[in-house]
Amino acid sequence: MLEHGGAVNAAAVRYGRPAEEWLDLSTGINPHAYPVPALDPECWRRLPQDDDGLEAAARAYYGSQDLLAVAGSQAAIQALPGLLPPGRVLLLSPSYAEHAAAWKRAGHALRFLDAHAGNGELEAAAAGCDHALLCQPNNPTGTRFARERLLALAGSLEQRGGVLVLDEAFIDGTPEDSLAEACGRPGLVVLRSLGKFFGLAGARVGFVLAEAGLLSALRETLGPWTLSGPARAVARAALADHAWQAAMRLRLKNEGERLAALLREHHLGQPQGTTLFQWLPHARAAAIHEALARRGILVRLYDQPPGLPSLRFGLPGGEAAWTRLAAALEQLENSNAI
Ligand SMILES: Cc1ncc(COP(=O)(O)O)c(C=O)c1O
Repeated sequence: MLEHGGAVNAAAVRYGRPAEEWLDLSTGINPHAYPVPALDPECWRRLPQDDDGLEAAARAYYGSQDLLAVAGSQAAIQALPGLLPPGRVLLLSPSYAEHAAAWKRAGHALRFLDAHAGNGELEAAAAGCDHALLCQPNNPTGTRFARERLLALAGSLEQRGGVLVLDEAFIDGTPEDSLAEACGRPGLVVLRSLGKFFGLAGARVGFVLAEAGLLSALRETLGPWTLSGPARAVARAALADHAWQAAMRLRLKNEGERLAALLREHHLGQPQGTTLFQWLPHARAAAIHEALARRGILVRLYDQPPGLPSLRFGLPGGEAAWTRLAAALEQLENSNAI
């Protein structure tokens, strides 16, 4: 099993501090989660219904007709590579590590592009590959690729019988960057998640947007009732709640900028990221991670790729959490740990 953020219980044991005293900034999950409505008790008793309105709400939200609900985008990340013809796949490094593991497990050959090489080298790197898997924006570096380039890339992979898979788990704050509406053609697959922007990671809901043939193969592989009835009900409400979405986009934009400013203020370099997290390459990343953990603040430490240690900070969920983070960074700076 690969390492993920959010392991507060393990940190509690390791540092001898009860879980409820931790400030967990180790994920990119929105701390202001969608307020889950009261659910019809029937959704616990009945088998999940395909015609309960979830897919209709998702089609409207994503602007795409061909989609499949999955138990978190992780379910699709694991299953999709096995449904595509084996070949060479281009991935970014560093990126969400589950992708590389899944493509490798399915027998594809991996090729990596430095996430900092960015737009310029994408086409050249992809020229020797059959498929490409990109997180847009990338987790953890925040790298984004221009839409036109991605569309052109999908077109050229498609001509070779390959596919561009775009993991848009962190795109809901900037939907204008999404390629969701361009899905339905053979060369493009988009993965979406309700775990990040909507803050519903525990519900395990995601969507795959792709051409109908691939979706039906995926549906066969995953089997029936992949989402529970309660998860479907909550996801349908969240996807249809445009007022909440619009307000949350503004709020997260402000908070993302506030977090970047706080890290800069404490001389932690130039953070990059999305509204939901900020990523910092730092030579002393491990020492900073440890010093914060000793103060009950959990951030995500990356020791890959070698020679580029880095940290990822998620958003504090309220003023007390902001104050606690600011005070800890101040202490670190004064003690020359930074
Ligand atoms: C980039 C990215 N994609 C996908 C996922 C999986 O999310 P979920 O399965 O909750 O939709 C994660 C989880 O951290 C992620 O960071």
